[in-house]
Amino acid sequence: MKAIIYTEYGTPDVLQLKEVPQPVPTDDEMLIKVHAVSINGSDREGLIGKPLYARMGGLLKPHYQILGSDIAGRVEIVGKNITQFQPGDEVFGEIPGYHGGFAEYACAPEKTLAKKPAGMTFEEAAAIPQAGVIALQGMREKGQVQPGQNVLINGAGGSAGSFAVQLAKLYGAEVTGVDNAGKLDFLRSLGADHIIDYTREDFTKMGKQYDLILDLIAHRSVFAYARALKPNGTYFFVGGSVAVIFQILFLGPWIRRMTGKNIRMLVVSQNNKDLIAITELCESGKVVPVIDRRYSLSEAPEALRYVAEGRAKGKVVITVI
Ligand SMILES: NC(=O)c1ccc[n+]([C@@H]2O[C@H](COP(=O)([O-])OP(=O)(O)OC[C@H]3O[C@@H](n4cnc5c(N)ncnc54)[C@H](OP(=O)(O)O)[C@@H]3O)[C@@H](O)[C@H]2O)c1
Repeated sequence: MKAIIYTEYGTPDVLQLKEVPQPVPTDDEMLIKVHAVSINGSDREGLIGKPLYARMGGLLKPHYQILGSDIAGRVEIVGKNITQFQPGDEVFGEIPGYHGGFAEYACAPEKTLAKKPAGMTFEEAAAIPQAGVIALQGMREKGQVQPGQNVLINGAGGSAGSFAVQLAKLYGAEVTGVDNAGKLDFLRSLGADHIIDYTREDFTKMGKQYDLILDLIAHRSVFAYARALKPNGTYFFVGGSVAVIFQILFLGPWIRRMTGKNIRMLVVSQNNKDLIAITELCESGKVVPVIDRRYSLSEAPEALRYVAEGRAKGKVVITVI
């Protein structure tokens, strides 16, 4: 099969279109013919090998040579323990471990996949999984946003952020979106009430406090985050610097005891229940998976360059066939 592979961490120039062996599903997996795959922050991080957690599979060079977590396609083969799907089903979802999707075929277990709604294209379906589930868990399942609350989303113009802004508005919050200047109009179009250009202003130094902060790209100290939280407010680290992770693990409980402010990691559980829930919101039109650009599989390096250069608004999708 054709796949986009990389054998060293680096810029999109290290990506190559190659013929590689088709993966073989285990008893708990399905083989899926991939029609579309979307790009997430996890691909951008996996490509460059930063932050350090992006090298979990291989410290010096990538262990898994194919990036891509969010696929939509058709089931070709089912392992003997698969009960919910059969060959021919149109499915979509996340590949655990966030790799294997930039290819003509990929394997995935049934717990992170769902049947693709008939009214949705493969591209639209591929745009939802990782980003939509992060946003749903951050805003609804774990964040439990209430009407009238002040919510800030840091990295709001990217994959998960574009879903999170819409969800926070849907649940009645007053939303502040933080991203680069080129994405601020986009954030307004998603419903953000306030916008902050991270290249000019630091939201932790602006004197405003929030009930909930969803941070998709954390790099400040936990004390800065505590300053930006209301008493009893919650800060969720989703992605960002490993130094912040250590601070949260070691200082987060102490800050909670001293101030009541909840500074913690959002450990997203990959499951099809939440995938179906966010997809139903998309089907009803309450949330829109915003696809900025589409590329072919051979154009994947260009697609990742577009994302890495900070230009992508919402999702970028690769159409495989
Ligand atoms: N916790 C978990 O269980 C879990 C699970 C899956 C994924 N993740 C993580 O989720 C994270 C976010 O994913 P994503 O797909 O939404 O990423 P994304 O699509 O790359 O979006 C990140 C956004 O943040 C913006 N940004 C960059 N630097 C910024 C800064 N200093 N301040 C504010 N915004 C900034 C980016 O804009 P530019 O274009 O300017 O760079 C981009 O719009 C990744 O780190 C991924 O590893 C976590």
